[in-house]
Amino acid sequence: METKIWKIRGEGTDLAKLSEAAELLKAGEVIAFPTETVYGLGANALDEKAVEKIFLAKGRPGDNPLIVHICSVDNVRQLASDIPEKAIKIMEVFWPGPLTLVLPKAEIIPDIVTAGLDTVGIRFPSHPVAIKLIELAKCPIAAPSANLSGKPSPTTAEHVWQDLNGKIAGIVDGGKANVGVESTVLDVTGSVPVILRPGGITREQLESVIGEVKLDAVLHDLDAVPRAPGMKYTHYSPEADVYILKGSTREKVDKIMNILESSKGKGIGIMASQELIGALPKDLPENVLTKVLGSEHDLETITANLFDTLRWFDQKKVEVIYGESFPDNNIGAALMNRLIKAAGGKTI
Ligand code: TXA
Ligand code: MG
Repeated sequence: METKIWKIRGEGTDLAKLSEAAELLKAGEVIAFPTETVYGLGANALDEKAVEKIFLAKGRPGDNPLIVHICSVDNVRQLASDIPEKAIKIMEVFWPGPLTLVLPKAEIIPDIVTAGLDTVGIRFPSHPVAIKLIELAKCPIAAPSANLSGKPSPTTAEHVWQDLNGKIAGIVDGGKANVGVESTVLDVTGSVPVILRPGGITREQLESVIGEVKLDAVLHDLDAVPRAPGMKYTHYSPEADVYILKGSTREKVDKIMNILESSKGKGIGIMASQELIGALPKDLPENVLTKVLGSEHDLETITANLFDTLRWFDQKKVEVIYGESFPDNNIGAALMNRLIKAAGGKTI
């Protein structure tokens, strides 16, 4: 299948191009599109056959439910059978934005979307291109991240192309996704909301609006059974072994120097803050590639660059990647969750 690309830039979202993409969505095709978190792989959420194509293109396990994307808070009424008081408050404050709410599912949503669960994840993204596309398609859009299963989520149209060229009808290129990690998934079906996956909206932000918010056990106990089915899959296991590098800047530098001494020409990647990389000697051996994620004082930028950097090291075929550890509060919770997953928990 030929995969079309529509490049959209700037404020005025290019209507003719987006309409073409929306027509294909209406016709039951699968289209990748930008959101503020990562690129999504969308299909009409009410069309079972179309949604099936998403699972095929990604190679996604059928027991992993999809998020349904909407373009107005009002759309929720059609898709959820009940909307608790706290959910309404959260929608008012955080939508549109990088937050998915798990709510009791309405009949209208096909089982394939929710993997047979009686709940559905719903998100109103804030990316103007995503909003316009959903408006034009005139239907809720089921969309997982637009990567092949097991690869990092795509933060650019180029990443989507690497994974899905030839497998989907088209890609709407809206530039770089600025959050860079997936949305927070918040289950609001119980009395205390539970974060199933940390993401762009932080626990601290949520608690400032609705009071207590719990973390799903799997987020502090690797052996627990996750309530978001997708959290049980290794999200990303690069060819390279990944290790998380802990300690003070001094300790991290010492650890890196020890590693390099015994590396004997092995391809090594270091992804870290500009502060840590700046503290390393300038004349590192040729087998060592470094990548600055951003300043340690700007975890948003570090988070936004993580997936792109992991893909970059993959292309460079390094054998071991060392990723700097960061504080895991605020956006750091999402950052460290993805880093720990990539490393399979391995720390030095
Ligand atoms: O930012 C995002 O959320 C991106 C963009 C495209 O919106 N989408 C995304 O989708 O990351 P995906 O499919 O890669 O991850 C969705 C996660 C999975 O872990 C899935 O198991 C969980 O949300 N999920 C979806 N519906 C659920 C439900 N009803 N109950 C519990 N977990 C659910
Ligand atoms: Mg995904």
